[in-house]
Amino acid sequence: MKAVLVRDFGPVGQARIEECPSPRPAAQEVVVDLRATEVNYPDILVMEGKYQIKPPLPFSPGKAGAGVISAVGPDVSGHSVGDHVAVQSEYGTYAEQIAISAESCHPMPDDMPFPVGAALGLVYQTAYFALIDRAAMKPGDTVLVLGASGGVGSASVQLARALGASCVLGGVKGEQNAELARAAGCDATIDLGMENLRDGLRDQVRAATNGHGADIVIDPVGGSVTEAALRAMAWRGRLVVVGFAAGDIPTIRANYLLVKNIAVTGLQWSDYRDRDPAWVQSVQQDIFALWSDGKLSPQIADTLPLSEFAEALKRLKDGRAHGKIILEP
Ligand SMILES: NC(=O)c1ccc[n+]([C@@H]2O[C@H](COP(=O)([O-])OP(=O)(O)OC[C@H]3O[C@@H](n4cnc5c(N)ncnc54)[C@H](OP(=O)(O)O)[C@@H]3O)[C@@H](O)[C@H]2O)c1
Repeated sequence: MKAVLVRDFGPVGQARIEECPSPRPAAQEVVVDLRATEVNYPDILVMEGKYQIKPPLPFSPGKAGAGVISAVGPDVSGHSVGDHVAVQSEYGTYAEQIAISAESCHPMPDDMPFPVGAALGLVYQTAYFALIDRAAMKPGDTVLVLGASGGVGSASVQLARALGASCVLGGVKGEQNAELARAAGCDATIDLGMENLRDGLRDQVRAATNGHGADIVIDPVGGSVTEAALRAMAWRGRLVVVGFAAGDIPTIRANYLLVKNIAVTGLQWSDYRDRDPAWVQSVQQDIFALWSDGKLSPQIADTLPLSEFAEALKRLKDGRAHGKIILEP
């Protein structure tokens, strides 16, 4: 089988497609013939050696995919050859096949296309746990999603809306991103590119919420945007630190937390996957059910062959993805 192989950490363009032995399932694993794999921002960090977990070299990147089970380990129950499943892995989905723990496979609805199964993986799981577990979202909350045109951002917008937020605001830079955020379901967009964002973000959020502010902020952006967002929060607001797409890790000043009774919390989704797979399984079925009900719709911008992985990752890094990119092995 063919797979993208990273032999040294470095720029994504130095990885190559190589012929590799077909995997065999261990006792509690299945082998999935991947038909779609999701391109995610953390894939770049993993390939460059800048991610919190460094896979052993050589490895194939890729955290989410979908395909057909082609082999089942002797201790696996509940999965059969021919089943359509979405998979979520620490790495390894930029390949024609993956051997993966059976508990990281999620049965897909019969009518779900493989690119959708892949795209409803990492970013929707991340958004769900950020909103529901870390931020304890309740129906009626106002939610500000930063980077609302990106992967985690657009998933957070859709889920916040589907789960009963009264108002979902999308923080974006530029008109093209604002259009994507509105397409994901934002009630209004907040301009993150303005001068004096420190005051301006708060003013925009107050104007959009009748002075209330944001009960919840989902923050995959970081940098100076985080502090500006803290100033836009409502009493007892909850900000979830998800990532640092702006490149800088913010320092949070504790006086903001004290003055408004604000909570800042972090989210590392892979910990949920590894520590509580049953919870992740049940959340994935909830996400699939919301898709079946027409409440979620991943914004797939392009589908490329696996051989174009470097182009896909460059588009994502340069802000030219304009939605999800799916690779087809
Ligand atoms: N904690 C977890 O478990 C977890 C899970 C998944 C992802 N993440 C992290 O979350 C972050 C986002 O991932 P993603 O997949 O959503 O990436 P993405 O699809 O590239 O989206 C990032 C978004 O942030 C925007 N952005 C970047 N810099 C900005 C700035 N300075 N000001 C305003 N907006 C800015 C981007 O806009 P442009 O497109 O215009 O640049 C884009 O909308 C990454 O750091 C990733 O590693 C964490």
